Amino acid sequence: MRRAELADLEAMSEIWWQLLAEHEHRDGDYWGTIVEAEARASFVKSRAQWLSDGKHVMLVAVAGGRVMGFIHGLAKERHAIYRLRVVGYVNDVVVHRDFRGRGVGRTLLAALTAEFKKAGLTHAELMVDELNAGARGLYNSDGFQPRQLHLIKKL
Ligand SMILES: CC(C)(COP(=O)(O)OP(=O)(O)OC[C@H]1O[C@@H](n2cnc3c(N)ncnc32)[C@H](O)[C@@H]1OP(=O)(O)O)[C@@H](O)C(=O)NCCC(=O)NCCS
Repeated sequence: MRRAELADLEAMSEIWWQLLAEHEHRDGDYWGTIVEAEARASFVKSRAQWLSDGKHVMLVAVAGGRVMGFIHGLAKERHAIYRLRVVGYVNDVVVHRDFRGRGVGRTLLAALTAEFKKAGLTHAELMVDELNAGARGLYNSDGFQPRQLHLIKKL
């Protein structure tokens, strides 16, 4: 496990594209439309900026020089109506299909939450699709609990 570097972004974009494709496969009404080349190029561009701004934490799990998965999070400020004004926000956690089910996701999540703690944060939060059983299983086994529901209605 180590901090992501510019040279990792191409491999990370491939794994991220797997996530997008799976989201669209599960729920094509909600996710999709963007094409692979465009999505991956925009991923590389935005993450290259984030790598250097000191706000974002991006970690990669690597074995034999291959990126198995990555996680990205940041300290997020919340509105004054919330008692918790800053939380550790988990934005993306993705493991390449070749490496799932071997504890990589759990290890990435533990490493990011350790970084959050080191930065003085007391809580982590994230969004997850209702239908994403794998991710929900990971978060649930790590101690995340639902607090608010994101509702949507077709008009
Ligand atoms: C979710 C994801 C990151 C899990 O990574 P992983 O390396 O396969 O997970 P791990 O092997 O570390 O598993 C940790 C725990 O997660 C849960 N879990 C993992 N995959 C699961 C699945 N398919 N169904 C239900 N629970 C699952 C289990 O509780 C597991 O613990 P166990 O092995 O003791 O049963 C991976 O499946 C993935 O990349 N999915 C696509 C991307 C994605 O949807 N990311 C989340 C976006 S919100």
